Amino acid sequence: MKILVVGGGGREHAIVMKLAASPRVTELHCAPGNGGIAKFAVCHAVKATDLDGMLALAKELAVDWVFVAPDDPLVMGMADLLRENGFKVFGPSKRAAIIEGSKVFSKNLMKKYGIPTAKYEVFDSAEQAIAYIRAQNTYPTVVKADGLALGKGVIIAQSEDEAVEAVHAIMEDRIFGESGAKVVIEEFLTGPEVSVLAFTDGETVLPMVSSMDHKRALDGDRGKNTGGMGTVSPNPYYTREIADQCMREIFLPTMHAMNGENRTFRGCLYFGLMLTPYGPKVIEYNCRFGDPETQVVLPMLHTDLLDIMEAVEDVRLGDLSVTWNKGACACVILASGGYPEKYETGKVITGLDEKGQCEGAAVYHAGTKLSDSGEFLTAGGRVLGITASGETLQKALDAAYKAAAGVSFEGVHYRTDIGKRALAAK
Ligand code: AMP
Ligand code: GLY
Repeated sequence: MKILVVGGGGREHAIVMKLAASPRVTELHCAPGNGGIAKFAVCHAVKATDLDGMLALAKELAVDWVFVAPDDPLVMGMADLLRENGFKVFGPSKRAAIIEGSKVFSKNLMKKYGIPTAKYEVFDSAEQAIAYIRAQNTYPTVVKADGLALGKGVIIAQSEDEAVEAVHAIMEDRIFGESGAKVVIEEFLTGPEVSVLAFTDGETVLPMVSSMDHKRALDGDRGKNTGGMGTVSPNPYYTREIADQCMREIFLPTMHAMNGENRTFRGCLYFGLMLTPYGPKVIEYNCRFGDPETQVVLPMLHTDLLDIMEAVEDVRLGDLSVTWNKGACACVILASGGYPEKYETGKVITGLDEKGQCEGAAVYHAGTKLSDSGEFLTAGGRVLGITASGETLQKALDAAYKAAAGVSFEGVHYRTDIGKRALAAK
C-alpha cells in the first residue's frame, strides 16, 4: 500500500510513524511534511490546503490511500475531491466536516438532538450580540467565532468590557477573517477537560483512549492559549462510568444526529468534553485527530491503523476488534521562545540523532526543517513533541522529561508540569 498523509505537524508525524509500523505499508508520502517527517516519508512541497495540487500529487504518485489530517482541507472538501477521483481516503466529507467548520452548525445540532453542551445564542449583528451580553450580565462569558480560526477563535471574557471588545474584534475588525461573520455567545462551564477521539463509520463509534491537553503556555495553566503544550493519555478523570455516560448521551447521539442530517461522518471525530458538576458536556467537536492528542493516543494503539482505515471506509468498523496497549503515554512540547506570540525560527536543534529522534522517547516534529547540511532547524512555534510511554503515567512523564532535557535550541521553552493535574486526580 502506498499512502499519502496530508499535513505537516506533530500529529502528522505521529500518523506517519504509526503507518510506517504497518507491515502492509510499502511507501509513505507526506505533503507538505517537515524536517522530522522527511526521515520516515517522502515529503512533497504541496500545501495542505491546495486541493487541486494534492489531487495532482496523489495521481502522480499513484497512491492507494490519502490520509487527510488537518481541519482546513477537510472543511474545504479535499476528501470528497479525492474520493470522486477514485482514491481511498481517511477523513470526512465536506458535509460532515462542518461539525468543526461551523460552531453555529454544531451548536444547533446539539440543541436539536438534545446533546449536552453549554447554553448559547447565535448572532450575526455585533449590536445584538452586545445587547445580549449586557442583558445576561454574567461573567465570565464565552465569545466564539463561527468558523475555523486556527484553534484561537474562542475568547473567555471576564467582564462586560472584555466581552464587548471580543465581539468588536471578531465581528468588526475580523481578526479571524470571515470566520467572524457570526458569533456564538455561550455559558461558561467549569470542570476537568477531556479529549476523546473516536473512529466512526456512521454505524459504529469506537472511542480511542482518552487524553488531556494542556493549552496554556506556562506552568500552572497560566499564560496565553496555545495550540497545546503537552498531553497525557489516558485521562484519569475519564472513568469507566463517565465513558459509558458519554457513549449514551454524547457519542452515539452525535453519530445518529449526523446521519439524521444526511451528513454521515466517517473518519476520526474528536469530542472536546468538559466534566461539569452537571455531567459531561461538549465544548467542541473537531472533524479530525487532535494535535497534540494524537501524539499520545496513537502510540497506545495496538491494532494496525491501516486495518482501521479500511474498516471505516468500507463501513465495517463494527466487525473490527480494536485493542490498546496498557500503561500511559506523555508528550511534552518544546516550543520556540516567545510562542504563542512573536518568536524566531531557524535555530539549530541539538540532541537529536540522524533520524531526528532521541534515546528513550519518540520525537514528533511539529515545526522543523532540514538545513542544507542536514541539521534540524526550528521552523515554527511548536517545534518538537517529546513522547514516552510507561507502565504508569509517572514513568511515562519521567521518561519524556528526561529525554526532553537532552534536546535543545536557542530560546527553547516547555512546561515542567505536564501531567501534574492528571497525577493529582488519582
Ligand atoms: P475550543 O477552541 O472550542 O476548544 O476552545 C478552547 C478552550 O476554551 C477550551 O479548551 C476550553 O478550555 C475553553 N472553553 C471553550 N468553551 C468554553 C465554555 N463554554 N466554558 C468554559 N471554557 C470554555
Ligand atoms: N488539541 C486541540 C485540537 O487539536 O484542536
